[in-house]
Amino acid sequence: MINHSSTEQHNGPDPAVIVIFGASGDLTQRKIVPALYSLYLENRLPAGFAIVGVARTPMSDDAFREHLRPGAAQFARRKGDDADWRTFAQRLSYVAGDYRDDALWQQLVAHLDQCDEAWGTARRRAFYLATPPALFVPIVEQLSRVGICRDCNLTRIVLEKPFGHDLASARTLNHVLSTLVNESQIYRIDHYLGKETVQNIQSLRFANAIFEPLWNRRYVDHIQITAAEQLGVEHRGGYYDQAGAVRDMIQNHLLQMLCLTAMEPPIAFTADEVRNKMVDVLRAVAPVAPVDAVRGQYGPGNVGGAAAIAYRAEREVAATSQTETFAALRLFVDNWRWQGVPFYVRTGKRLPSKVTEIAVQFRPVPHQAFAPADVADWQPNRLVIRIQPQERIALRLQVKQPGRGMHVEPVYLDFCYADYFGAALPDAYETLLLDVLRGDATLFMRADQVEAAWSVVMPLLEHWASVPPDDFPNYAAGAWGPPAADALLERDGRRWLVSE
Ligand code: BG6
Repeated sequence: MINHSSTEQHNGPDPAVIVIFGASGDLTQRKIVPALYSLYLENRLPAGFAIVGVARTPMSDDAFREHLRPGAAQFARRKGDDADWRTFAQRLSYVAGDYRDDALWQQLVAHLDQCDEAWGTARRRAFYLATPPALFVPIVEQLSRVGICRDCNLTRIVLEKPFGHDLASARTLNHVLSTLVNESQIYRIDHYLGKETVQNIQSLRFANAIFEPLWNRRYVDHIQITAAEQLGVEHRGGYYDQAGAVRDMIQNHLLQMLCLTAMEPPIAFTADEVRNKMVDVLRAVAPVAPVDAVRGQYGPGNVGGAAAIAYRAEREVAATSQTETFAALRLFVDNWRWQGVPFYVRTGKRLPSKVTEIAVQFRPVPHQAFAPADVADWQPNRLVIRIQPQERIALRLQVKQPGRGMHVEPVYLDFCYADYFGAALPDAYETLLLDVLRGDATLFMRADQVEAAWSVVMPLLEHWASVPPDDFPNYAAGAWGPPAADALLERDGRRWLVSE
């Protein structure tokens, strides 16, 4: 029997103070506060809420509000007027200090008590660690020391990625956290899981009876998952040069999309039932053979009509960097359903367009009964799930061309979110923040999920570290990665579909 524990039910959001560590940083200004502002404007936050920023930079409450305002104006999905901002801003306050300094924590504890009185936040707290990962443990240690995360039902801790640099560091981090707080309090963010279209993979698969019979090795030829970006590393060169495409995108976002595509139907949409099925997929992924992996790094080029510098010329990137900005892998999910079906995944920076897409390529018909000339344009069925932009689901079918005998031609049945639902989709952070306040961890990574995802990529990362690339940079900014990425599919008689 399923245990519907209180943390697994879809409740309304609980009143709470949201405490953001790293509050003077980019993530707070561009993502967290704009998401909270949009939720506020749509009346989806609880009446009792307050937002407390914590960081080292000295700032008054008013300066903090002014610091956040342009971000809300630019990035929030919903735009309010001056009066809306002023009412929202009353709930914002700021505490400055050094995380290692006990005085900060005394001040914070007192301030949170005042918030409870002023805004009816009822001792509930969501601590959002939008800080460099090196601060996760020191901050959670302090939270534990001052006793404000003792009650598992009242306090939640949100951790941004990256969660560890490799399997060993992720394990250590999980272990240390487990000595300080309960796993049910930890919400590890993978913002892709908050995207509407990523969540919709589950409704597409499990709310429609017609796909499940086809969703297996018998009918699926292969699956492709592409997450391409036009952007380079922007101002994050220091972080990215230590990470690279596999750690930054594949270990988390792409593997999670793969899990949703490949998982077995859960018996209920509760956090643990769904995550159990997702982690099963990761455990079934075979170690990636080096011959099934391609790495690339961009040189100078042209992206979207503008000149782009080489990765090695980016700020805070080593002039001889061997970090990959592109990776393409052929993965196999070794289980009954998917045995022998390749999952090709690729991601890269400075590619020709920003597009995230999953393509399920079905097998050809077993026998062509039509005259060869009639099926000259024929192509196998394909289901395309466009995660972003122009979010859509398209199914390729063959139809008879009018008036040309039995000549068939491929067409798409195309469902576009914007055309049907109109308004812009909620930002992933809106969904995830609301889930934190509701206590629903379905879209967050459990400790074992993170470790299983690291286990998938570790053998490859270790191999790559031991055999440095000798051809970097090997693709021009604005190209679809190095030629070897095309060769990876060509040797299987296939090609990447997004670049068609
Ligand atoms: C982040 C990565 O997790 O995801 C970035 O660290 C990347 O490097 C970003 O640009 C992509 O997210 P999105 O939502 O723009 O596809």
